[in-house]
Amino acid sequence: KTVYLKDYQAPLFSIEQVNLQVDIFNDYTLVTSTLNLTPQQANQALVLHGVDLELQTLHLDNQLLSTDDYQLQGEELVIHNVPNQPFSLQSVVKIYPAKNLALEGLYLSKGMYCTQCEPEGFRKISYYLDRPDVLSSFTTTITADKNQYPTLLANGNLIAQGDAGEGRHFATWQDPFKKPSYLFAMVAGDLACLEDSFTTMTGREVALKIYVEPHDLRQCHHAMESLKASMRWDEQVYGREYDLDIFMIVAVSHFNMGAMENKGLNIFNTSCVLAHPETTTDLGFQRVESVVAHEYFHNWSGNRVTCRDWFQLSLKEGFTVFRDQQFSADQLSASVQRIEDVAVLRNVQFAEDASPLAHPVRPESFIEINNFYTATVYEKGAEIVRMLHTVLGVDAFRKGTDLYFSRHDGQAVTVEDFVQALADANQQDLSAFMQWYRQPCTPVLSVNTDYNAQAKSYTLSISQQTPAKEGYPNPEYLPIPIKLALFDQHTGQAIALRLQGETQAVGKERVLIADKSQQTWTFVDVEQAVVPSLLRDFSAPVVLDYQSSNAELLFLMQHDNNGFNRWLAAQSLYERLLLAMIANIDQQQEPLTGLAMDELLTGLAAFLPTLAQQDAALAAKILSLPTENYLAEKVAVINPSHIAQAREALQQAIANALADFFRTQYMAFTQTSYIYNSAAIAQRSWRDQCLSYLLQSTASTEAQALAAQQYQQADNMSARMSALRGLVYSQAAQASSALADFYQRFVDEALVVDSWFAVQATNAKASLSDIEQLCAHSAFTLTNPNRLRSVVAQFANANPVLFHQADGAGYQFVANKIAELDKINPQIASRLLGAFSKWRRLENRRKQQAERVLTQLAQQVLSNDTFETLNRLLRA
Ligand code: ARG
Ligand code: ZN
Repeated sequence: KTVYLKDYQAPLFSIEQVNLQVDIFNDYTLVTSTLNLTPQQANQALVLHGVDLELQTLHLDNQLLSTDDYQLQGEELVIHNVPNQPFSLQSVVKIYPAKNLALEGLYLSKGMYCTQCEPEGFRKISYYLDRPDVLSSFTTTITADKNQYPTLLANGNLIAQGDAGEGRHFATWQDPFKKPSYLFAMVAGDLACLEDSFTTMTGREVALKIYVEPHDLRQCHHAMESLKASMRWDEQVYGREYDLDIFMIVAVSHFNMGAMENKGLNIFNTSCVLAHPETTTDLGFQRVESVVAHEYFHNWSGNRVTCRDWFQLSLKEGFTVFRDQQFSADQLSASVQRIEDVAVLRNVQFAEDASPLAHPVRPESFIEINNFYTATVYEKGAEIVRMLHTVLGVDAFRKGTDLYFSRHDGQAVTVEDFVQALADANQQDLSAFMQWYRQPCTPVLSVNTDYNAQAKSYTLSISQQTPAKEGYPNPEYLPIPIKLALFDQHTGQAIALRLQGETQAVGKERVLIADKSQQTWTFVDVEQAVVPSLLRDFSAPVVLDYQSSNAELLFLMQHDNNGFNRWLAAQSLYERLLLAMIANIDQQQEPLTGLAMDELLTGLAAFLPTLAQQDAALAAKILSLPTENYLAEKVAVINPSHIAQAREALQQAIANALADFFRTQYMAFTQTSYIYNSAAIAQRSWRDQCLSYLLQSTASTEAQALAAQQYQQADNMSARMSALRGLVYSQAAQASSALADFYQRFVDEALVVDSWFAVQATNAKASLSDIEQLCAHSAFTLTNPNRLRSVVAQFANANPVLFHQADGAGYQFVANKIAELDKINPQIASRLLGAFSKWRRLENRRKQQAERVLTQLAQQVLSNDTFETLNRLLRA
């Protein structure tokens, strides 16, 4: 059943109070819910959501209802005759958390009861108006065996606890803030707790608690530090203060996503909480920091102000991702953070936007909303908020968010309300930006430049074009902020920018807004030819089409004072070379391209030594080539093995040209003892980059020995993991013993075992039977999403050569897993189908194989989730 945005109707009943009693027994759980309802219109039937609930009894105003008084229809409970005044409804239902492998609603994870209600999981716990615009006050009482489940948690404040007889106990929690059901959470388990506290800007003391399985307690400190940093940051940057006396995080091993912002009781995938130098890489540490921040920030952007309906998902997700990106940029390096965020945007979101799965940031219809927790809603949504931030400027943006939070506190609102508040606070018209939410696909921004030496003027002609798509035949022109600077070729300095018609120059960096089919801007007082630095910091989520010369790109790599744009220039140059190489390989020629390659290698050799000294993290980023997935978006017909071949050839060329440099750098930066700070992280990433190039060079045997030594001597996971990966990917003789050692060493650390699976699943030099072997391993299971993803999703998304092997066996393998998984966890099954999003553009042989496999899958009985995604993939 398809739901449409245009059909939105306000709820017919409000729910003032919810009283939940959750009685946990070994074989089942009883949920007694008492709702205080108020009709909003006369003579309307009450329709509650409920899925997989065994209804025991139903009372309306304390009167037992008989089966004639209500109907159970599919996923709804309908009561036709309800009073026209406020009334109470009590339902008792039986549920089976131990059988809940979809991990939605109340479920068991390693002996711990926990919940995931967003978006529509509450209906698997109790009958309810399970929609985000019904806000209510929740009181939750949990009873359970005292020994098995000493810890009983729910949202809000603990108001009572005690003995419940027969070896059981109870705890009652009350949430003083009204909330929609998707923010409900509860936990029952035997958990250890790291405690701390935070004093808010008005001097209130907040108790902070992170609950984990006892043996994970030593891995919670980084999450705690991140939490405190986030709380302070949100006060300082957005003026947002935390509002309860307690904030809890619980880590669970079985979790479909990263984490969930339930009011006062965030529930996290262990992968986004646990961090320790011995078990977690630097990237892992950064992920914990950003997810802790993200979920904390939702307390305002999501919880205090929530979404009217699920079409508005990006209202909270886009804004909160933007906030967590800003926070992370303030922690380590702002330009490296921006590079990483843009890499995800370009590799994942642009690909989604160009695929049959493309949808607007605010979708117009869905069958299963779980399918819309996408890179488009999250990442492109964040980019829209970033553009508004860029256009308004820091202070005006803050004025806007202040108004948004105060105007809509306690409400469930729309994306329009957000943009309107930003506009109203600054008396500006931002309505043109709404179109970014309404149409899919990535705009292409084409730029032409012209320098007039006589007039000393420099003209930019900019046009935009958004691809059309089924349902969106005539995309509108969008407001595209273009942040730019112009560099004098001789001095290497940015020049002052004065547009024709202006009386004086206005700074050395400006934002132009392109909002028409085609526009021109002319800068005057331009004494010499200049090199333009366009779309600085990626000021808009667009494809930039500007035919700069190789020399200009090399110039920007060296001289741009915007670190992000140095990286972007490098990427453009690599892309240009790689596309030429791929075309050569497609025509069965040698991949290498003479002059451009020489220019690149000479250029890199000229500035890398200095850059590595000044900013090792940026140097490492500048040396990372565009990914295979990114390149696949740039060719008309995709042959994944040709793309991989070209990439490898370019890597080898760089590796051999700079081998001595990489060796010296590797030795110089070789590990000092571990610390976690920005400089040390930068050094580790640079050292890893040098090692991985050395492994591609003709000196690979020597490099393998270095990697093996690094593996042995490592006192932290970053160093150990990069060495292991290097050994495995380079097919070193030492690889198998390192893998065996690694497994033994970390057999009790589930997250590390996940990474052991992942490094093997992403090995392009493995064979499909090696991957099948991984699935046959005793530690592999379909029922834990992290473990499942560590093999199947890693293989499908990060091992393109093998996944796309020409005989279709990789496709068949993944499709089989999807079919199997769909019966237990539809959300994850459906998500795995994303690996097929480029199938229509594959070269013929692979395309036919993919089509065969997908069509076969479509013949099976499927969940709504998988059915919807598969249909979107297969329809023309
Ligand atoms: N709101 C969560 C977050 O982004 C994501 C939860 C989504 N869960 C799901 N099952 N789709 O922080
Ligand atoms: Zn979120």
